[in-house]
This record gives sequence, structure tokens and C-alpha cells, in this order.
Amino acid sequence: MKTKIAIVTGASAGIGRATAIRLAKEFTGIVLVARQGNELEKTAAEINAIGTETLLIPADLRLVESVDQVISQTTEKFGRIDALVNVAGAVPQIHLFDMTDEQWNDGAEMKLHGARRLAIKAWPFLKESNGSIVFISGNSAESPKPGFAAVATINAAICALSKAFAEQGIIDGVQVNTVLPGPVMSNRRIGFLEKWSKANNLSMEEAKQQFLQEAHIGRYGKPEEVADLIAYMLSPGAKWLIGTAIRIDGGEIKGI
Ligand SMILES: NC(=O)c1ccc[n+]([C@@H]2O[C@H](COP(=O)([O-])OP(=O)(O)OC[C@H]3O[C@@H](n4cnc5c(N)ncnc54)[C@H](OP(=O)(O)O)[C@@H]3O)[C@@H](O)[C@H]2O)c1
Repeated sequence: MKTKIAIVTGASAGIGRATAIRLAKEFTGIVLVARQGNELEKTAAEINAIGTETLLIPADLRLVESVDQVISQTTEKFGRIDALVNVAGAVPQIHLFDMTDEQWNDGAEMKLHGARRLAIKAWPFLKESNGSIVFISGNSAESPKPGFAAVATINAAICALSKAFAEQGIIDGVQVNTVLPGPVMSNRRIGFLEKWSKANNLSMEEAKQQFLQEAHIGRYGKPEEVADLIAYMLSPGAKWLIGTAIRIDGGEIKGI
């Protein structure tokens, strides 16, 4: 089997963890990046159990040196990069009027600039392997609300950034696409619902139901459902899928 190496950020939880585990079926090595090393070990145990190699890199992607570390450790161990999946994200979900400059910068530093820096540093290796990048944005990019203004703005910026990389990728032979998830049940979603339940004096169950009704969707998504879409985008059959931004949100946004 040909060696194929994928880097997955945010691999300690939620969509990133599910993606790393899903990609282990197609790739020979998965590089797991996030801050919490103990959580990365749990993801690695599941991947190793199916015979795929892992490299764990506990790193804070807000820092420029972390990005250098991810690329140098990956290429030292595996000598190549075939896919980069930028999942990590922790943009504060705070109302437009209450969010400080620091919180804006912190959110953008990781989700937008961390992903951008990684893509640039990985690019020569992806060019060499005719590899792929998937950026994770969010459907808030298409429907910004005051309570999610920073998330929406950064997600929209990721869509634009991804299209610029995709255009360059046509020249360099690197495939670039974006996924825009909607409400997926993860630690991040639970944190949001806890805040929502307290603010509205609801039980957690009531908050979950009220959010579904307001979003007009039947249920929350599973991280594995997003992971399946990412795996498709990285599959040999999807090589002509370039510069797209695909929404996966249970029908929450119906724009054409
Ligand atoms: N869940 C949803 O409903 C939803 C909807 C739309 C978009 N998204 C997007 O999907 C992505 C994954 O979200 P999720 O719901 O799976 O969230 P999650 O369960 O909270 O996972 C977030 C991941 O990002 C990592 N991370 C956070 N800050 C980091 C930092 N400074 N450096 C490195 N890694 C960091 C976390 O790891 P550590 O804490 O270990 O660092 C974790 O692995 C995010 O970009 C999010 O914006 C999610």
C-alpha cells in the first residue's frame, strides 16, 4: 500500500477526532494536533487499533512556532504530507456588543491564521504529493447573527481564504475545499447550549429542543457525519472537486 499521510488539527475532540479516526481507514499515517495531549492519546488508541500509525503533536495553534513544529515533526517522521485538514476552532460565541478586541484576535489567531499558516507551510509538501486541504468553516458564514458575529466573520474569511488557496492549487496541483457544518453535537455545542440554557432559564434538554426548533432542523449532526464528507473530499474519486464550500447542516440554511 502507498504511504499516505494526513494532518488533522483539532483531533482531541468532536469533528477533528471523528475525522482523524475516519481517515485512518484510507491513510497510512495520521498526525494528530491539539493542545490536550491526553485527549490526543485517546484518539490515537482508536487509530492504532486499526493498524494505522499516528504522530501526536500537542500544540497551541495560535502560536507561529507550533505551526513550524507540526510541519517539521510530520516531515521528519513520515517524509511527506498528502492531506491537511484544518478543523481546530474555538472562536468565542459572544454577542457583537460584548466581544472584546482580545477575544476577536484570539479567535482569529487560531482558527483563521493558524489554518492559513499551516496551509502555507504544508504547501510545498502538498505540491510534491498532489495532495489536498480541507478547511472547516461553519454555516454561520452564510447567516451571520449578532450572537455569533465573530464566528460568522471568521468562518466567512476562511471560505474566502480557501478559495484563494484553491485557485493557487489549480496551478500547483493541490486540491482545496471547505466544509461548512451546522449544529453538530460536540463539546463546543454543549458549551454553547449550557450558556443558552442558563441565559433563558431552561433545563439543558429544553435548551437542546428550543435550539433545534429555532434552527428548524430535526436533529443535531454527529461529528462522524462531517468526517464522512471530509473523507469523501479527500478520496481519489473526488479529485475534480475543487474550490467548493459544502454545507452539512441538516437543512438549516437553504440558500442556493
Ligand atoms: N459543533 C458545531 O456545531 C460546529 C458548527 C460549525 C462549525 N464548527 C467548527 O468545527 C470545528 C470543530 O468544532 P467542534 O464542534 O468539533 O469543537 P470541539 O469539540 O470543541 O473541538 C475543537 C478542537 O479544536 C482544538 N483547539 C481549540 N483551540 C486550540 C488551539 N489554540 N490550538 C490547537 N487546537 C485547538 C481543541 O483541542 P484542544 O482543546 O485540545 O486544544 C479541539 O480538538 C471548529 O472549527 C468549529 O468552529 C462546529
